[in-house]
Amino acid sequence: MALWAVRSAQAQDVPPGVLQFLRRHEEEEAQHLKQFESLLGVSSHGKTALPRMPSQWRVLAVHLYGYEALGLEFARLLVGLRPDLTSILEDEAVHVGFFEHEVRAILVHGGLAADGARQAAQSWRRRLPRTVERYLRDESLAPFRDELREHILHAIDMRFLVVGLTVRHEG
Ligand SMILES: [Fe+2]
Repeated sequence: MALWAVRSAQAQDVPPGVLQFLRRHEEEEAQHLKQFESLLGVSSHGKTALPRMPSQWRVLAVHLYGYEALGLEFARLLVGLRPDLTSILEDEAVHVGFFEHEVRAILVHGGLAADGARQAAQSWRRRLPRTVERYLRDESLAPFRDELREHILHAIDMRFLVVGLTVRHEG
């Protein structure tokens, strides 16, 4: 789901263990992408430049966690239509779990790193509606677009809240 983000992140300074996970993860993401492309009859050719990813681990971990969570929501939708692709959902659940663990590890120490992670979550979340909009722009999704967008944003908000990246506001 987040192939380029994962590729780009491997160039960053990440904790031991994470790099190994990212390498395996990249293979799975490439496999998923192929399945999506053959399913939709499209190709993501042309996207050769890697996106710029943050170099601070506290920020990068939050971004990867967010993108994986987003990927998981799309995988859920996909599997609703194509139950034979359940393995994608299972892989994505593992990816989300991995980064959720990393984010919790950052938050549990508190201090500057935890504050930085929470700030990163806030600014990532601010940009999320536009990202989701882009993913849902296919004409065939028009009748469900509003509902899908609300559902996905809510799922991400709940996740960020439960993990402790955001706090619930009164009122
Ligand atoms: Fe993933």
